[in-house]
Amino acid sequence: MEVRLQKYLADAGVASRRRAEELILEGKVSVNGVVITELGTKVDDKVDSVFYNGKRVMNNERMVYIMLHKPEGFVTTVKDQFDRPTVMDLLKGISERVVPVGRLDYDTSGLLILTNDGDLTYKLTHPKHLVEKTYMAKLFGRPDQNALNQFKWGVNIDGRRTEPARLEIVEDLGKYTMCKITITEGRNRQVRKMCDEVKHPVAMLKRIATGKIELGDLPKGKYRLLTDKEVKYLKSL
Ligand code: URA
Repeated sequence: MEVRLQKYLADAGVASRRRAEELILEGKVSVNGVVITELGTKVDDKVDSVFYNGKRVMNNERMVYIMLHKPEGFVTTVKDQFDRPTVMDLLKGISERVVPVGRLDYDTSGLLILTNDGDLTYKLTHPKHLVEKTYMAKLFGRPDQNALNQFKWGVNIDGRRTEPARLEIVEDLGKYTMCKITITEGRNRQVRKMCDEVKHPVAMLKRIATGKIELGDLPKGKYRLLTDKEVKYLKSL
């Protein structure tokens, strides 16, 4: 079947569709020995041979969808420039070339989805798809009604207001407050910056859900395959 080159690369788990487009424009992809820099190019996996980085890109991997409970102290990349542990180190037994869907900071723990389904990665990380992400956050001090309202209206970070978010008080811990925070975007260090902005910095941050997919009691550092129902749900978003 003929598909666009960027979709072919994404389906093969090389990169998200957006990143695949960049790789093509950068001249890093060849088809039948010819470097291709046109985004409209179509390829047929039965007749064309696609190469990226000197390696043949095959498209016959099974699709896998993984939920990982990321611990603190791991970076969410496939390879770290400073050789720190990456989330990939925790996926022993997975041979497919999965990539993380979005990012959790080095010092954030919790639910991370990884897949080799480039289409789903593209969809879930595209700024126009507002998927709710829920966090448990231990914050310094006790957020008052004003802080809660600021989250509701959106908080100005990096010169731009966030989409409306939710800050709920869960438990008073004295010096700290345990809170549940829900955001719909995936901006860089978004929760931490929003909390800094309302003067209640984050002491601990853990993602507990993406949409209706919940981390549940999956132990830290462990992973499981998503159920068919969960995959179907993610594709429907
Ligand atoms: N917001 C943050 O600040 N950090 C994360 O890891 C995720 C969301």
